[in-house]
Amino acid sequence: MDLGLLRDGINEVIATTFQNAAPMGIICRHGEARMVVYQGSHTAGRIEKDGWVVANFIFDPILYVRTAFEDLPPDFFINENAGGIAVQRLNGAEAWAAYRASVRQRASDALVVDLSLLRQEVIRPVIHPVNRGFNSIIEATVHATRFARSHDENLHHLIRHHAGLVRRCGGEREYEALDLLFKYLGIPETS
Ligand SMILES: Cc1cc2nc3c(=O)[nH]c(=O)nc-3n(C[C@H](O)[C@H](O)[C@H](O)COP(=O)(O)O)c2cc1C
Repeated sequence: MDLGLLRDGINEVIATTFQNAAPMGIICRHGEARMVVYQGSHTAGRIEKDGWVVANFIFDPILYVRTAFEDLPPDFFINENAGGIAVQRLNGAEAWAAYRASVRQRASDALVVDLSLLRQEVIRPVIHPVNRGFNSIIEATVHATRFARSHDENLHHLIRHHAGLVRRCGGEREYEALDLLFKYLGIPETS
C-alpha cells in the first residue's frame, strides 16, 4: 500500500472515529499500515462498528493530552467524504488521512486492525522544528495513560523524567499541556 502521509515505523497521530478522538499509534511496516487498539476504548468500539478511522496530523501538545483523557465536544469534528464513506476529522488538522479499518485479529485485550487508505488531504503544511519538550509531552502522555490504569511507580518515574525535559525544552503550549497532564493524573507537579 502507498503509505501516503505516513512513514515507516510507528506514527503517533490523533485518531478520529465517529465523534471520538484519541492518540493512537499507526504501525507502518513493509508498506502496510495497522493499529493495535485496546479493547474497552471508544476507538476499538467505533472501529468495530463503523469500519473506518482517520489519522489527524496536528501538533498541538494540549490536544494530545486532552484526547488521551477525555472526549471532545462535537464542534471539534468536521465531516468529510472519503471514497463514499462519511468520516470525521479534527478541526484544525494540518493534514488528515482516512482509512478503511478491518479487524484482522481479536484478542481479549486488543484488536489488531488493518488499514487501507481511502483519502488524504494536506490542508496547511507547516514546518515543525524538532522540540524535545513536545516529544516529551508525547512520551509522558503515553506513560500517563498506562499509569492511570496501573499506578506503577516506574511509570511515575518516567513521567517525572519527561516533565523535566518539557520544563527545559518546551514552550508555553507544552507547559500548559504538562499542567493539564498532572491534573488528569491527580498528582502534584513537583512530586
Ligand atoms: C502517543 C500515544 C499513543 C497511543 N497509542 C495507542 C495505541 O496504539 N493503541 C491504544 O489502544 N491506545 C493508545 N494510546 C492510549 C489511548 O490514547 C488512551 O487509552 C485513550 O484514552 C483511548 O481513548 P478512547 O477511549 O476515546 O478511544 C496512546 C496514547 C498516546 C498518548
